[in-house]
Amino acid sequence: MSGDGLARSVMARCDTLGGFSEEAERLTRRFATAPMREVNARVAAWMRAAGMDVRQDAVGNLIGRYEGRSADAPTLLLGSHLDTVRDAGKYDGPLGVLTALALVERLHAHDEHLPLALEVYGFADEEGLRFHTAYLGSAVVAGAFAPATLTLADADGTSMEAALRAFGGDPTALQASARGRADLAGYVEVHIEQGPVLEAQGVPVGVVMGIQGQSRLQVTLTGVAGHAGTVPIRLRHDALCAAADLILAVETLAFEMDGLVATVGQIAAYPGASNVIPGEATLSLDIRHHEDGVWGSAIETLHRRAAQIAEKRGVDLLWQSLQDNPAVRCDGRLSGLLSRSIEACGQPVIALPSGAGHDGVMMSRLAPIAMLFVRCAGGISHNPAESVREDDVAVALDVLERFVRRLAEERGGA
Ligand code: GLV
Ligand code: MN
Ligand code: MN
Repeated sequence: MSGDGLARSVMARCDTLGGFSEEAERLTRRFATAPMREVNARVAAWMRAAGMDVRQDAVGNLIGRYEGRSADAPTLLLGSHLDTVRDAGKYDGPLGVLTALALVERLHAHDEHLPLALEVYGFADEEGLRFHTAYLGSAVVAGAFAPATLTLADADGTSMEAALRAFGGDPTALQASARGRADLAGYVEVHIEQGPVLEAQGVPVGVVMGIQGQSRLQVTLTGVAGHAGTVPIRLRHDALCAAADLILAVETLAFEMDGLVATVGQIAAYPGASNVIPGEATLSLDIRHHEDGVWGSAIETLHRRAAQIAEKRGVDLLWQSLQDNPAVRCDGRLSGLLSRSIEACGQPVIALPSGAGHDGVMMSRLAPIAMLFVRCAGGISHNPAESVREDDVAVALDVLERFVRRLAEERGGA
């Protein structure tokens, strides 16, 4: 139970992992990069010291297994991701891996093995920063990896296949790396809330009801490049101006449709010179809603509006869907167990939806999932100012321990 310094250790380890970055001045850790290798090595050492068998799979997921009391004990999967966004905070992802690891350390300190084996995952890619497609790590584990993804290229033109080989992964073994499901009791993930609800309610943790549906798209607008001084304004086919129109149309639709969130987070103009009319513009589009019907109709509406803008401005439109993930509900039985574990720790139970995507989206194809959110200062995330409190992490760890013990009693016997 709390008082063993493990919450402090989780905080210190989040600090340590926050130092492994591709960039000197900010935390950026993309899939299959050198800092990912270093982070995997560091966490693997902590896992081994906690009595776990450790391996790295074909896509670069780090997996530590702590055996149950008997060889035929069911297995609970836990964890989160070890990659980050650009200029990230330290807790999005690592908090879930390190809290799960701390739970194993708590058991290992007494050489205790439950009638439930625990497998802790540090997923190789959840954010999709490098190849613009999220959940690469958990998709492999869930048997949902799309082989065509291997041909995607990063900003430097390196294919995912080449990046994975250079990392020491095996692109030919991704299908075979799916986790068998026969022994699984479920997947549970601890994650920073990334929103303001728990802080506003004054509670340390909350149980997640589900994860909203999300699409990632890339839109390319092609006009005509030309001289910034000579082509009259009415005769231009400026791709960047069309993109600007579209960005505002995205925001307008999100204002119009209750609960819709839609974001253009990246934009590039070509050829990219101050005295050249942009001939081409590409932008990313992220569209999310909790109801799949609304989410689908928002995508259709935006596609139509983009076509209208392109026609009005005399530019070509290329509308490419990169990833569609429908909304996912957390498992009622596991979430109920999580709620009772929160109560048993003397905390009020707050149930809340997740606006952010999580590895649970993919893992729900493999096993029932549950998620525990941890209060996040100011609701700030995907930002270096992201922060959690040590006493909240202590609560999350105690809740996770109760949850796992109860599940072990239910599934494996006391
Ligand atoms: C991941 O953090 C996402 O929600 O995009
Ligand atoms: Mn994130
Ligand atoms: Mn995350």
